[in-house]
Amino acid sequence: MAGGLHAVARRLAASAELPAPEHSDANAASTASEPENAMQPSSPTADATPGLLSATPARAGRVVDAEAGNRAARTLRLVAAVWFGVAATGQLIFVAYILGLYGLSALRGDLAAWNAVMPRAYVPGATFANTVIGVHLAFAAIVVTGGIFQLVPAVRRRWPVFHRWNGRVYLSAIFLVCTAGLIMFATREIVGDPEQRVASVINVALILVFAVQALRHARARRIDIHRRWALRLFLAASAAWVFRVALMFWIVVNQGPVGFDPKTFQGPFLIFLAFAQYLLPLGVLELYFLARDRGGARVRYAMSAGLGLATLATATGIGAATMILWWPKL
Ligand code: HEM
Repeated sequence: MAGGLHAVARRLAASAELPAPEHSDANAASTASEPENAMQPSSPTADATPGLLSATPARAGRVVDAEAGNRAARTLRLVAAVWFGVAATGQLIFVAYILGLYGLSALRGDLAAWNAVMPRAYVPGATFANTVIGVHLAFAAIVVTGGIFQLVPAVRRRWPVFHRWNGRVYLSAIFLVCTAGLIMFATREIVGDPEQRVASVINVALILVFAVQALRHARARRIDIHRRWALRLFLAASAAWVFRVALMFWIVVNQGPVGFDPKTFQGPFLIFLAFAQYLLPLGVLELYFLARDRGGARVRYAMSAGLGLATLATATGIGAATMILWWPKL
């Protein structure tokens, strides 16, 4: 699906008579240290500034455009970093919930406490089923935490060896979480529409494709392309968190459950959200790539405004999920 979005992005770029988008060698070189340096002002502006007074009007205009583009790029980079900071905080609260509810009760030997949220999560004597759920939850906490560390630029810069090992742990944990999740689908009675299950299976397929691509390009030292796939992987692997945050945002905004039945957990809104939990963030990411790499000042400011709104919505959803779903269970 990201491939589809990517194809749309390519068509958009082509119709605007822009150069071929990402993955060309030239582009890989120009964004070699994404995400942090990709937003740095490009050198033409700096080189041209001293000659501005003697420049022709056309050249001066280009310099002014380039400066505006660079300011817009810095704004976009800042807004993206703020979104990531807000999302990372919300993900760490989710991890605290997983460890606090499921981890602590396991350490206390009180596995029956797992049933507080998931009915029949722990069934005495059902060793295989209990183990699968335990693996799913334990490695889910590792995936969420590991994903955040992988994306923090300072961690990558200062501790490259940690980045590599954390990457290996992250990918292995993703594989275990997905495998356990699929086994749970096949063996447990799960509430919800069948379409929601289809959406989750597609989510797993995307996660695996993105993981393979991120690993393949990292091994080949195609770092720019590796980072693009790693960002797609992060968003696809964050879908379980996005689902909870978006659902709570929806409930708070509508002052109650609209578009679904809270008892059966079925309804059109939940079917929509089951797909949107990864397609929406992945679509926004492709637009971000396009605005960052190919957009002029206006496009970058428009993208910044969109991301700013997304940040407000994310923060509202995190607040609601914390108060409604997570904090009461701790
Ligand atoms: C890193 C990603 C994931 C995280 C962090 C995560 C987290 C969780 C958590 C915390 C629960 C317990 C319910 C709760 O307390 O909210 C859960 C349940 C579950 N998860 Fe995941 N999950 C992830 C990915 C997946 C995937 C990819 C699948 C599907 C293949 C999946 C399938 C399930 C199922 C079937 C349940 C049980 C629901 C029930 O029986 O009510 N999860 N997950």
